[in-house]
Amino acid sequence: MQKEKLNINGIRNYLRTPLEIGNLIIKNRLALAPLAGTSEVVFRSICSEYNVGLTTTELVSVRGICYDPTLKRNYQYLVIDPDKENTVAIQLFGHDPADFKLATEIILQHPILKQVSILDINMGCPMKKVIKTGAGSALMKSPDLAQRIVQAVSEVADKYNKPVSVKIRSGWDQDSLNAPKFAKLMEDAGAKLITIHARTRNQMYSGQADWNIIAQVVNQVSIPVYGNGDLTDIVSILRMYQQTNCSGFAIGRAAQGNPWIFTKILDPDFELTNQEWLTVINRHVSCMIEKLGDEAIAISKMRAQLSAYLKGKRHASKARNVIMQCTTKQQLFEILQQIVAAH
Ligand SMILES: Cc1cc2nc3c(=O)[nH]c(=O)nc-3n(C[C@H](O)[C@H](O)[C@H](O)COP(=O)(O)O)c2cc1C
Repeated sequence: MQKEKLNINGIRNYLRTPLEIGNLIIKNRLALAPLAGTSEVVFRSICSEYNVGLTTTELVSVRGICYDPTLKRNYQYLVIDPDKENTVAIQLFGHDPADFKLATEIILQHPILKQVSILDINMGCPMKKVIKTGAGSALMKSPDLAQRIVQAVSEVADKYNKPVSVKIRSGWDQDSLNAPKFAKLMEDAGAKLITIHARTRNQMYSGQADWNIIAQVVNQVSIPVYGNGDLTDIVSILRMYQQTNCSGFAIGRAAQGNPWIFTKILDPDFELTNQEWLTVINRHVSCMIEKLGDEAIAISKMRAQLSAYLKGKRHASKARNVIMQCTTKQQLFEILQQIVAAH
């Protein structure tokens, strides 16, 4: 396909155009990449308010779901809120097609989870405890098995008219950059969308993402491709588009403590006020307390996220130390008010 030459205004207009995946219409081309420990329902709902088009849950084990068919333990990770969220995908990981098949059935028969928009399969996780079972990025070394997994999920998802997507990396290591060929195999097996994090498994999260491989994936498949890795703002999105011609853009770490990033990218006039900053954190903390049913537990679970909200703020490191000791919302907001007063 001929690449369009776009400037900043042009890429903003492109980002605002809907993306069609079968019957599904995603309202724009910005996505929140899945982030374990961050991309749960409350954070995703806030990102949706700030105009993200597509979000994905944290990765959830299909074996775990199969052992927990009533979802007593896993529901907190799978939960979606269709009233408050834009398009949302549930991300599954595992290594056994039979587990994937059963887990997909369980999800799509659940009264709330059946409203999910996309079933996403994790083939990018680099963590030892995941890859030692043959799951996550280890699947990029077993394309046949990976295909059988996509077929197993698609077989069930098709009955419910839900598209299946796959999140991959560039390859296992620098000597096996198989993402383009692998992505094509995923398409052949039934995937309707690919997200590629342009790093190898061995790179984990370090070094610079090499977007050239995204362009190769785009050229290899006829389904939409979301590029991912090191996107931080409209300028990096424009550069990725020019280099790869990808259909969508998935933002991970740059959205942590920064859920308004999506509006900021789409709207050049957007400025977050100090009051709005406090309001968002207040809402995030309050909803987490409600979700977890315990103030101290919610605040302790949110420490990394609270620390991310302080990025770039004056006296942030002192505030971070105080936040590590906070157990109540009141203590937390006393320190956040001081941060605002210093600005
Ligand atoms: C803390 C953390 C948790 C992550 N959790 C997941 C996950 O559950 N599933 C997944 O596919 N990728 C996960 N990723 C990878 C991100 O989705 C993304 O591919 C990666 O961070 C690169 O994008 P970025 O440069 O925009 O952060 C995680 C990354 C980080 C840093």
